[in-house]
Parts: sequence; C-alpha cells; structure tokens
Amino acid sequence: MPTRFVARPPATDSDPLEASGPTLRWGVVATGGIARRVTGELTQLADARLQAVSSRDAERASSFASEYGAARSYGDEGGVPGYLRLSEDPDVQVVYVATPHAHHHLVTSALLEAGKHVLVEKAFAINAPEAEHLVALARERGVFLMEAVWTRFLPVYQRALDAIESGELGLVRWVQADMGFLAPYDPRSRLWAPEHGGGALLDLSVYPFSWTVGALGLPRSVSARGVLNELGVDEINALTFEHEGGSLSQLTSTLASQAPRALTIAGTEASLRTSGSLTRPDGFWIERGEETREERFDHGPVPYAFMLREVTRCVQQGLTESPTMPLSHTLAMMHLFDDARAQMGVRYPNDERWGALSGRGPGPRTHVAARDAAEQG
Ligand SMILES: NC(=O)c1ccc[n+]([C@@H]2O[C@H](COP(=O)([O-])OP(=O)(O)OC[C@H]3O[C@@H](n4cnc5c(N)ncnc54)[C@H](OP(=O)(O)O)[C@@H]3O)[C@@H](O)[C@H]2O)c1
Repeated sequence: MPTRFVARPPATDSDPLEASGPTLRWGVVATGGIARRVTGELTQLADARLQAVSSRDAERASSFASEYGAARSYGDEGGVPGYLRLSEDPDVQVVYVATPHAHHHLVTSALLEAGKHVLVEKAFAINAPEAEHLVALARERGVFLMEAVWTRFLPVYQRALDAIESGELGLVRWVQADMGFLAPYDPRSRLWAPEHGGGALLDLSVYPFSWTVGALGLPRSVSARGVLNELGVDEINALTFEHEGGSLSQLTSTLASQAPRALTIAGTEASLRTSGSLTRPDGFWIERGEETREERFDHGPVPYAFMLREVTRCVQQGLTESPTMPLSHTLAMMHLFDDARAQMGVRYPNDERWGALSGRGPGPRTHVAARDAAEQG
C-alpha cells in the first residue's frame, strides 16, 4: 500500500462552517487583500467570534472592525505597533496574520510571546532561521502554530491523495506542476520588493510544493534556476526536487507570464491531472491506459473555511499543530527554499539579520550549513 504523506483532516466531508466545539475569539493582523477574504469566511464559522483587528493605521483598523463586526480595533499608537497592542488583548485567543511575508516573523513572534495561538499566511517566514525561531517559540509556549496553506484542506486535494493511497496510480515516480500569473511591475509592491520578500518562490512555489509533498513526501534536495529582475528577486523559477526512492518533481513558478497552473502526478499504473488552477482545482482525471476516471468538486463560496475549521478544531482539542499541515513540513520547505534562493542568488534584507544564506551566489547549499550559519549569526 503506498504511503500517505499528508494526514487527512477529519472535517473534509462535512460543512466547514458547522461548530466543532466552544466558540473561539479571533484577532486579525492587517487589513489587506487576503485579510479581507479570509475574515469574510471566518465570521461565518458557527464557533468563531472576531474579537479584534489591528492595522498600522487606526482608521483602517476601525473601519475593518465595523465592516466585519470586530469588538475592538488597534492601530499604531505612541510608537507601539497595532499588532503588539492586539497581542496584549486578553480576550483574543487565536490570531490570523496576513501581513507581507517579510513581516510574518516580527508579528508572529510577538503574538506567540504573548501566548496567542497563531495562523500565519504563506510563506511562513523569509528564511529557515526565522521559521525555526517561530516553531521553537510556539513549542516553548505550548501554543498552536500553522502556516496558512489552505489548499491542503480542500476536499479535492484530500481525494487526490486518497486515490494515490489506494494504489490507483501505482508507485508515484514524477510530479510536474506550474504556478503563476503576470503580475504588474511595481517595485514597491509586496510581490516584487525585496524588503517585503518579493519574487515568485515565496509567493507562489508554496502551492505546487504542497502537492509534491502530498504525492511524494518531503524532498531530500533541490536544484534551482531562476531569472532575476533588476531588484534581484526571481521573476521565474524552476525547481527540481529529488525524493526518497528515486522520484522527481519539477515545479515552475512565474510572476512574469500567464501560467496554466497545471498539475500532473505520474505513477507506474496511471497518471492524475487536475483541471482548473492547482490552487483550487474543480476536479481531476485519472488516466490508466485507455480508461479515464473523473472526479469533480465544487468547493462552494467559502474555500478558506476548510483550513479555518482545522485551526479551530486543533485549538479546541488542545493540539499545538495540525497533523495535516505540520510544522515539520513548513520547516523542511523553508530550508529547501533557502537552498533554492542560494542557488538562484536571491537575498532579502531579513537574511542579513539572521546570517542566513551566507554563501551568496550560484552553488548548492546544505541544510546543515544554513543552520550552522544561523547559530553563529
Ligand atoms: N492564502 C492565500 O490565498 C493568499 C492570497 C494572497 C496573499 N496571501 C499571503 O498573505 C500575505 C498578505 O498578502 P496580501 O495579498 O493580502 O497583501 P496586501 O494586500 O498588500 O496586504 C498586506 C497588508 O499587510 C499590512 N502590512 C503590515 N506591515 C506592512 C508593511 N510594512 N508594508 C505593507 N503592508 C503591511 C497592511 O495592512 P495595514 O495597512 O492594515 O497594516 C497591508 O494591507 C502574504 O504573505 C501573501 O503571501 C495569501
């Protein structure tokens, strides 16, 4: 029987909005694009209450709070950042962090220090040392922490993994996936600016990576090529991962072209292809010789709710991480992405602080060296 590399969450086949326990009081940090989408779904959960929101700007925090029904709002005040003020709110139990990646570590570490459970947007952090620090902090405080890889909780992802687990594909040997879109060039935007962690790797590669982990398990090494723009961030990247047992995955991400966002998982008996974007496919086909089997999915109007249900269930049950999106997967990804960035020559201001990626420029870099550099830094 093939291994299942990603645990199935219990709520895959039920309504994610239905309560699974006592009501949790949530906080939200940031008022940008994804904060709005996820909060709009969060407030529909039967056992969630939006307690507080923070923003750099008090007025933005207040209008977001009125729009989504939060009891309190916090902006930066007297030199104290809004997220820090929110972290001191004793009525907030769990916080969703939706700032650009380069600010995830700063905000999340403050929340964990204050004893809050945290759901933090992808990419979890800028580099592996930041990620290691957050995980250590969460474990020390005994609080829940998860990277918001919402796609892992969608029924289509879980059903595709069921098919692999059942042996329908035979032994999976190869995965190919691409992700991307043409992003308007703005050197100040979070998609491009190095100080926000810009580039395709941290913003997009998280999604195909999650599929490859589901199909083949955590990779043991990565070879990376990237096309960098004048800011020094990757417009396009191509990652080849090697997995135990002689399997490969090839992932391409781009902010510089329209991409089909297609996924193929190839086994010795059959292959699986998704239809629609791999972030939220509306189905998949399994082709075995002349035969094709199809499964279709309608995730409805609340696709993020499957992830929010998992966070809620875990916190209600006293778990400190999700078996479906464990911290070990996030840490492995951050180490592999550090290796990929070292090979592509992409560095961020946050790397200097942590002594990460000290071997600048092309050339492979081991996980152990990255960790050693962080400890010495
Ligand atoms: N799960 C998904 O489907 C998904 C989709 C898109 C993005 N994301 C992730 O979510 C995060 C935010 O993305 P987004 O698209 O929502 O970005 P966005 O629209 O630019 O919003 C980011 C928000 O972060 C806050 N922020 C705090 N410090 C900031 C700073 N120094 N510079 C700029 N903004 C700052 C701002 O809110 P205030 O002004 O209120 O402080 C801003 O509105 C990223 O990590 C991204 O990868 C996830």
